[in-house]
Amino acid sequence: MRTIFLTSLLLLIFSGCSQEKKVNNLDGKKLLEEKCTQCHNIDLPPKTFEDEKAPPMMAVAFHIKGFIKTGDESQRIPKAIAFVKDYVVSPSASKSFCDKESLKSYGVMPSQKGKVSQDELQAIAEYIFSHFTQKNLDEAQLLQNKFNSMPKGEYLAQKNNCLTCHKIDKHIIGPAFRDVAMKQGNSLEVIMKSIKNGSKKKYTNSKGAIMPAFKKLSDADIKTLGEWVLSLKLQKDKK
Ligand code: HEC
Ligand code: HEC
Repeated sequence: MRTIFLTSLLLLIFSGCSQEKKVNNLDGKKLLEEKCTQCHNIDLPPKTFEDEKAPPMMAVAFHIKGFIKTGDESQRIPKAIAFVKDYVVSPSASKSFCDKESLKSYGVMPSQKGKVSQDELQAIAEYIFSHFTQKNLDEAQLLQNKFNSMPKGEYLAQKNNCLTCHKIDKHIIGPAFRDVAMKQGNSLEVIMKSIKNGSKKKYTNSKGAIMPAFKKLSDADIKTLGEWVLSLKLQKDKK
C-alpha cells in the first residue's frame, strides 16, 4: 500500500514538474531544433564556424539576458522571453543586441513570421533561458575537460564497455588491468591478440569467465588499448 502511494506521489511530482516547463505541451527543445538550427548552432559549449549564418544560441541567450533593461531582477527572464517572441517575428538592426560588426557580417535575422507561432516561441524562449545558463555551461565544460584530458586508450575502454568487466586496480569479472600489465610474458603483442581473439583460463581468479573476442575493433584501436593497459604498469613503478 505504501509503495503504491509513494509511486503515485512521485508520478504526481514529476509530471507536475515537466508540465510546468511546457506551454500547451509544446516541447521547447524540439521546436528550437526544428525551427532555429538551420542558422543558429545550439551546442553547449557552442562550436563556431567560419561561415556560420548566425551567432550560436548560447551567445544569443547570454546576450539578451545580460542586456535586457529592467529595474526589477525578477522580471529579467520574463522580459527576455518577451524580447525573443517579438524579435523572431519582427527583427531589426535597432532592436538587436548584436554589436554593429556582427550585425554587418551576419546581416539582420530574416523574420520568421508564419514559420513559428507565439506559443511555440514562448516554449522555445523558456527552454533557451533555462538551458543556456552559466551553471549548465560550467558543467558541460568540466565534462569536456575531463574527456579531453583522458588518455585515448581509457576513452576507447569506456566507449567499448571494457570497464563493465575490468577495473584498473580491482578484479571484478575480468582481471584488474594493472594485474594484466604486471603479468609475466604479457607483451603488447600477447595482449593485442587476447583483445582481438578473446581469452580464457589464463587468470585463475576469473572463475571460468571468458574474455570475449573484439574482432570488430580496428588494429589501431586494439594497439591503443593494449598500450594503455601496459602503461598502467609504469604508473605503479613510478609510485
Ligand atoms: C535564416 C537564419 C535564421 C533563422 C532560421 C533564425 N535566426 Fe535568429 N538570428 C539570425 C541572425 C543572422 C541573427 C544575428 C543578427 C540579428 O541580431 O538580427 C539572429 C539573431 C537572433 C536573435 C537576437 C540576438 C541578439 O543578441 O539581439 C534572437 C533572439 C534570435 N535570433 C532567435 C531565433 C530563434 C528563437 C529562432 C528560431 C525560431 C531563430 N532565431 C531562427 C538568423 C536566423
Ligand atoms: C564480458 C566481460 C569482459 C569484457 C566486456 C571485456 N573483458 Fe577483458 N577479460 C575478461 C575476462 C574474464 C578476462 C580473463 C580471461 C582469462 O582468464 O583468460 C579478460 C582478460 C583481458 C585481458 C588479459 C589478456 C591476457 O592475455 O592476459 C585484457 C588485455 C583484456 N581483457 C582487455 C579487455 C579490453 C581492452 C576490453 C574492451 C575492448 C575487454 N577486455 C572487455 C572479461 C571481459
